[in-house]
Amino acid sequence: MRKIFQIFSGMIISLGVIAQAPPKIEIDATRPLVPIQSTMYGVFFEDINFAADGGLYAELIKNRSFEFEFPWMGWKHLPNAETRFSNTNELTIYNNSKVSPANPKVVRVEKRDSSQFIGIQNEGFDGVGLKSGAKYDFTAIVRSNKGNISIEVQLLNEKDQVIGTTIIDKIPMNWGKIEGVITSSETIQKGKVNILFLGQGQLDIDFISLFPQDTWKGRKGGLRKDLVQLLAEMKPGFVRFPGGCIVEGRTLAERYQWKKTVGKVEDRELLINRWNKEFSHRSAPDYFQTFGLGFFEYFQLCEDIGAEPVPILSCGLACQFNSSEMQPLDEIDPYVQDAIDLISFANDPVSTKWGGLRAEMGHPEPFNLKMIGVGNEQWGEEYFERYEIIAAAIRAKYPDVKIISGTGPFAEGEMFEQAEKALTRLKPNLVDEHYYKPPKWFLENASRYDKYERERYKIFAGEYAAHPKGTDQPESRNNWEGALAEAAFMTGLERNADVVYMCSYAPLFAHINKWQWNPDLIWFDNLNAFGTPSYYVQKLYANNPGSKTLPILSGGETLAGKNGIYANASLDEKTGEVIVKIVNTSEKESIYELNIKGMPKKTSGKLWTLKANALNQYNSLQNPQNIFPIESELTIEKGKLSARLEPNVFYVFRMRK
Ligand code: AHR
Repeated sequence: MRKIFQIFSGMIISLGVIAQAPPKIEIDATRPLVPIQSTMYGVFFEDINFAADGGLYAELIKNRSFEFEFPWMGWKHLPNAETRFSNTNELTIYNNSKVSPANPKVVRVEKRDSSQFIGIQNEGFDGVGLKSGAKYDFTAIVRSNKGNISIEVQLLNEKDQVIGTTIIDKIPMNWGKIEGVITSSETIQKGKVNILFLGQGQLDIDFISLFPQDTWKGRKGGLRKDLVQLLAEMKPGFVRFPGGCIVEGRTLAERYQWKKTVGKVEDRELLINRWNKEFSHRSAPDYFQTFGLGFFEYFQLCEDIGAEPVPILSCGLACQFNSSEMQPLDEIDPYVQDAIDLISFANDPVSTKWGGLRAEMGHPEPFNLKMIGVGNEQWGEEYFERYEIIAAAIRAKYPDVKIISGTGPFAEGEMFEQAEKALTRLKPNLVDEHYYKPPKWFLENASRYDKYERERYKIFAGEYAAHPKGTDQPESRNNWEGALAEAAFMTGLERNADVVYMCSYAPLFAHINKWQWNPDLIWFDNLNAFGTPSYYVQKLYANNPGSKTLPILSGGETLAGKNGIYANASLDEKTGEVIVKIVNTSEKESIYELNIKGMPKKTSGKLWTLKANALNQYNSLQNPQNIFPIESELTIEKGKLSARLEPNVFYVFRMRK
């Protein structure tokens, strides 16, 4: 007969008297096992679901340089469509490479009658999000050809009422930038922006832009603060960018070319986004890439949030789910050069061509790039032969840079086995595995890496997410069932930290009205954002990785699903804390005694509990913290802790040793 205690919130609660001694979970804090890499838990960024333009990149004007497939997309003519062709006024698009040869289209405004009102109106990305009292920087590149036109910029609310305005009356005769600051008097989710042309004459205008002043770190033309904040709070070990299939492109011409994403923003050539019409059920014909968020900005973001940059580059093979277009092997050189030059851009001294560009962009210090991926989710001999050439060139020039290869889209099966064979020969430093599977797969695969060959290569679980079923609400697929399965699976990643060096949930961001792929880690609209239950699982892991694994057994076995219990333990050698992660995926409550060897007589700690009322619960813009980690205090005596594990719960214990 024994008394059972629950220790939560620093209180010991007697649960009554039961007949049997609870099973034990034995942890040995005196015997650290294998190192957990500081890069273990990271994030995967791809411009899918309007994650970049219309998302993280805070630009509010859609099609700012009139380079979309249809140049007027996103714009309306004022007062009406006829304005463009009236006798007195004209609005035309023409090519002029003076502003930017990469983005040559500009708008010509011909205004013969000063008493008439003409202008253009931008609809933003699903509207323009504006905040009351916030200031917005308007800029455009213009020239006045004749007469005297001034420009009024208006912010409009959903009823088309003006809620902020500025007039710019000094228009340069040669191409030049005009600027104005507008304060919004209302908070609006789906506003609009009017550009009105006052007076009479002829004027050319291009690159019309509006940014909130309140960006991440206050950078002009920067990133959305609330979204970066959510990333920073995760403390990710790395950021993988720019994808994903976007790296490959549907065709080679549509692949991601980092060199076209650096330098002056006006000179970054617009490209269609490959997710534009990929899925007919979520078609987004207005999805393009301005690359205002380009490789410099990715590196800067990594530096800001203390994450290692992990760029992935094209290997000369377009997406095999689309065209499979291939660069011939004897013409692969530009792809090789792109990889070499990227490392130079990130790491070489300012005296070099690419290091010089980095300095010109405001970052003379190197970004200290340590890893690079060659190809994304590709398979077959056509991939491995291209990988081999590019990897050999990187190794020859930058032997310290670690190279990541892909294994294709599947986590098992013939294609995966072929990849294993080829990669055993090619010996990349890290091998990227992807798994988008139902929650059940994650529960059944928590011991996947227990069986991996230790010496072959290291794993980067670069894209994964449990895909439960949801309701008709997009965010409902990010429910507790999926997040709990991911938490359980991740105990196995961490337990096998000698094999698994990195992992990242995918995709990262999704606009609530403009997504293509779901589930996703963080959802947002034009003004707000929230973390899904999966986000909080990732955050708890990334905030509490520990530096070495610790032995943890129950009845002599690893905790990898028996009775629905999954667990791992680690030691943070810097702080001297023992971290225990326990997931109960069963519908039943369980009582365990945690026995931690090597703990002092009495010590304290913290406990985070992540749980939900039901597996189909999820977070939303209306209820962003429906599922949210609850922090409480712990007291541990003689290394013993009687723990009541509630059903369907994820706990992280952190205890001073
Ligand atoms: O994360 C979404 C997509 O899933 C990625 O672009 C691709 O690599 C995978 O198929």
